[in-house]
Amino acid sequence: MQINIQVAQPEHAVHAPAICDLMAESAKARGTGIAKRKPDYLEEKIRTGKAVIALVENELAGFSYIETWSHGKYVANSGLIVNPKFRRLGLARKIKKAVFELSRQKYPDARIFGITTSLAVMKINSDLGYRPVTFSELTQDDAFWAGCSSCPNFDILTRNERMMCLCTAMMAPSANEERQMKIDLSDMIVES
Ligand SMILES: CC(C)(COP(=O)(O)OP(=O)(O)OC[C@H]1O[C@@H](n2cnc3c(N)ncnc32)[C@H](O)[C@@H]1OP(=O)(O)O)[C@@H](O)C(=O)NCCC(=O)NCCS
Repeated sequence: MQINIQVAQPEHAVHAPAICDLMAESAKARGTGIAKRKPDYLEEKIRTGKAVIALVENELAGFSYIETWSHGKYVANSGLIVNPKFRRLGLARKIKKAVFELSRQKYPDARIFGITTSLAVMKINSDLGYRPVTFSELTQDDAFWAGCSSCPNFDILTRNERMMCLCTAMMAPSANEERQMKIDLSDMIVES
């Protein structure tokens, strides 16, 4: 079986309704919250080169897209979904890596963050260099938090004034911050 993972192209916009259905079915099965997305929204991500799609022949295998917040200061890699038929094959790991690299290439000054209750996502994020952070470190852009309003736990988030909820927040440095950290480390002289 050959799984093709690529930056989504305009012709992939036809898959947007199936992606939305898959997201809704998975959220229902998990009984957890997810920011609901409409096909139009995903189509726009696809048409503007801000999404990664995985296909097996012409069948949808997985998807994720980029969102920018606080005027491009932060990027979130959102909507990660793998078709149940293709789970546990390492596909989410590959899609996440591809969308992470695309984010860093398009927005080299943006920190990349996500909020999740998924162990699989926590593992993948850690391996990509994300670290757990408190919600106070994340974008305070109201538009991002409005995405949580379709989650069954939204009352917990609002009761805690957006400081905590059931999701774990994780963040990776921007491409330029990481480059700077490497330069600083190479300048360091360790005397023994
Ligand atoms: C979460 C999801 C994307 C994982 O996709 P996947 O392709 O099966 O994941 P991978 O095969 O790449 O696995 C990545 C890692 O997570 C682990 N993992 C995968 N599914 C897991 C699960 N349900 N529970 C615990 N660990 C899991 C794998 O063992 C692997 O870890 P390892 O490399 O240390 O062995 C997929 O189950 C899915 O689409 N779920 C519904 C939507 C969702 O939860 N999205 C995330 C929203 S934040």
